[in-house]
Amino acid sequence: MAVWLTGLATARAQATPPLQTLAQMQAQMQAQGAPNATSLDVLHWWTSASERRAADQLGVLLGAAGVQWNDAAIPGGGGMAAVKVLKSRVLMGDPPDVAQLIGSTLTEWADIGLVLPLNALAARQRWQQALFPTVMELVSYKGDVVAAPLGVHRINTVLYNRHLFARLGLRAPRSWAEFAAAARAFSAAGIKPLAWSDEAWQIATVFESLLLSEAGPALYQEMIVQRKAAAWMDPRVERALQRLRWLRNLNGDMPQERAWTASARELMQGTAAMLIMGDWAKGELMAWGASAQTDFGCVAVPGTEKMHLYSVDTLAMLVNTRHPVALQEKMAETVSGMTAQLAYNRIKGSVPVRRDLSASAINSLDGCARDSWETFAAPGSARLPSLAHRMAADEVTKDAVAQALWRYLADPRMDALEAQKRLAAVIHLP
Ligand code: BGC
Repeated sequence: MAVWLTGLATARAQATPPLQTLAQMQAQMQAQGAPNATSLDVLHWWTSASERRAADQLGVLLGAAGVQWNDAAIPGGGGMAAVKVLKSRVLMGDPPDVAQLIGSTLTEWADIGLVLPLNALAARQRWQQALFPTVMELVSYKGDVVAAPLGVHRINTVLYNRHLFARLGLRAPRSWAEFAAAARAFSAAGIKPLAWSDEAWQIATVFESLLLSEAGPALYQEMIVQRKAAAWMDPRVERALQRLRWLRNLNGDMPQERAWTASARELMQGTAAMLIMGDWAKGELMAWGASAQTDFGCVAVPGTEKMHLYSVDTLAMLVNTRHPVALQEKMAETVSGMTAQLAYNRIKGSVPVRRDLSASAINSLDGCARDSWETFAAPGSARLPSLAHRMAADEVTKDAVAQALWRYLADPRMDALEAQKRLAAVIHLP
């Protein structure tokens, strides 16, 4: 268990009045009868235009099912601030009813009994058959189903401005050589080749795609999933780090830590030609009125075709003194159902977590989404968990990796080998 969670478990045990166990809460709830509230407090970090709209879409569908979405949004890309607020609310004895908990953070909370199991609902809704096995695995922990899945994001995505590429007579880059040639052409034309931010989580988001591109799925697994420190000393990691610095240097010397939406805006306005970012940036461009067919396009990061570096968004139902179990189950049922899956993911930029889409539903996806969904579904594809988005490591390890990468870029005197040593040092199994 992560160190801060051990502290939390102790605080939970010592809290006065003591926080109840799940069994105690359920017993108390039965004794008191069903709660009559109809709203659920939802803590999440979806605050950009597309994220907001996607959450509102869920709100509308839930409203029709008799569940009111009470918004507790905490701004901050990648959820850095939201995770902290959630921790403090739990420590104060006031967890929200629902939280955007994803990947390893989800299992950490489940470990201390704060997450409501959804086993009966999952069985009733035949999640095992309907959801992708990778998704089912992510929401399952120690025999329990611990979250409702919302959508699958693809991290290894290059978004590009179609108008700029057409103007220079270039095709979207399918290899690093084409990427470099396009970068040169855009620089010569006075256009920024790649929109960039030095926020640590965004650097980590770009880096893991580069790592997958250089290392391939097998070594990526060794480094990120099995967390073998020695694997981080492989020369392919050195090359990925050098490429990271090369990409960063396309943006000059000045550090610029800014929201991911600012980079998406540059792509939209045509002041930058490309952006390497999870496909939530696609959702954002669409929310601003751009079309994936005519204004921008997506390709897999060079060297990662047929690979899906994923981040799956999930909502966990938290155990608290309000006991809104029936409403929480209704929410889980609604958001994972086909109607919400198609409507929500279309806006969010992700793809449905369900594998039972009809042919017409698949055809109705935009080009980027279809490629993402089909790649995720294909038996021969490599599906790899994102480290930067909590799919593969706890919060502390993820942050330590992101910090090491940030330092490497911030300090031009640090060479790739030194960065590798630092990364190898912070990667360890829990
Ligand atoms: C989440 C996305 C979100 C993105 C930017 C990711 O970790 O999975 O849903 O849009 O962060 O905030």
